Amino acid sequence: MVLDRLQRPLRDLRVSVTDRCNFRCVYCMPREVFGPDYAFLGRDELLTYEEIARVVRILVGLGVEKVRITGGEPLVRRDLDKLVGALRGIEGLKDLTLTTNGSLLRAQARRLAAAGLKRVTVSLDSLDDAVFRAMNDAGVGVATVLDGIAAAREAGLWPIKVNAVVKRGMNDHTVVDLARYFRGTGIIVRFIEFMDVGATNGWRLEHVVTGREIVEAISREFPLEPAEANYRGEVAKRWRYVDGAGEIGVITSISQPFCGDCTRLRLSPEGELFTCLFGTRGHDLRGLLRSGASDGEIEAFVAGLWRGREDRYSELRTAETAGLPKVEMSHIGG
Ligand code: GTP
Ligand code: 5AD
Ligand code: SF4
Ligand code: SF4
Repeated sequence: MVLDRLQRPLRDLRVSVTDRCNFRCVYCMPREVFGPDYAFLGRDELLTYEEIARVVRILVGLGVEKVRITGGEPLVRRDLDKLVGALRGIEGLKDLTLTTNGSLLRAQARRLAAAGLKRVTVSLDSLDDAVFRAMNDAGVGVATVLDGIAAAREAGLWPIKVNAVVKRGMNDHTVVDLARYFRGTGIIVRFIEFMDVGATNGWRLEHVVTGREIVEAISREFPLEPAEANYRGEVAKRWRYVDGAGEIGVITSISQPFCGDCTRLRLSPEGELFTCLFGTRGHDLRGLLRSGASDGEIEAFVAGLWRGREDRYSELRTAETAGLPKVEMSHIGG
């Protein structure tokens, strides 16, 4: 086990496999910035699945128990099930999951499950088709994502969570509908406060709807009570329906930061390590991997990086830091 300067162990690794996405969510990849001329990474810049699997194996030796595959949209990268297959067998890895926008799940859920994926988290910001289309800005309707969720369920990917980013003036009036729709289905919706990740999404504090407001709005129709965290460092705060119809979560990175328990390391598509979602720069691992370094050397590099870590961006956030150049969420993953 390796501890950082704030005594936080390394437990989770989030692997972004591509910086591309078939959506253009306004709060993540605004079309004005991510247009036809945007320079995405080239194929040879990406870590191969073999390289990723090697890194994961080494990091499991340092204490990583949970791996989340993310992006961009991970399912736009070819044969993602091969990566799942390469990771599933790694001894000591307890949880392997995937965050997706759901649009390609109907086509891929069965293959992913067969390769050994256990569960998925699907992003869906609203059930109102006009609102959802305005948010993803890619002409994808709600029905496609709901069908992707159904496909995941049919394939045995379970539990399923749904992530909804809430932006004031955009989809905040549809929050209760989302809660109502998934109540009693076993699918857990987590509402995420709009965050100042990246530098292109025009974030302003006025756009943030706090977790507290969200819980209050839902509670008025369906009373909620707080539930215990499933594990130390869980990102979402859990709230249970008093009538037994399940639970929701709120992710309050803005109003109630959770850096104190942050055990997450992030690997970018081109093999840079980020010790914080709000990092301005990554640490190159690809160079080391491709220079013939031994497993021991790679392990020592990552352990050193983690020991020196003191990130707690969300706790230190100010109006000034919100405007700093930061890595994009579509690059490093949610
Ligand atoms: P489970 O393992 O299913 O409980 O998932 P999780 O709690 O790891 O949540 P998930 O990976 O689905 O993350 C949900 C959202 O929380 C992400 O999309 C981000 O928006 C936000 N988030 C996750 N990790 C961090 C983090 O380290 N810092 C901040 N500020 N936000 C985070
Ligand atoms: N604030 C909060 N969540 C965001 N996501 C992307 N950008 C932001 C942001 N600025 C979410 C996505 C998805 C997850 C990967 O991260 O909607 O659910
Ligand atoms: Fe794509 Fe997810 Fe970003 Fe939307 S939030 S543009 S689906 S990576
Ligand atoms: Fe972890 Fe950085 Fe998020 Fe804080 S802001 S919880 S340190 S990733």
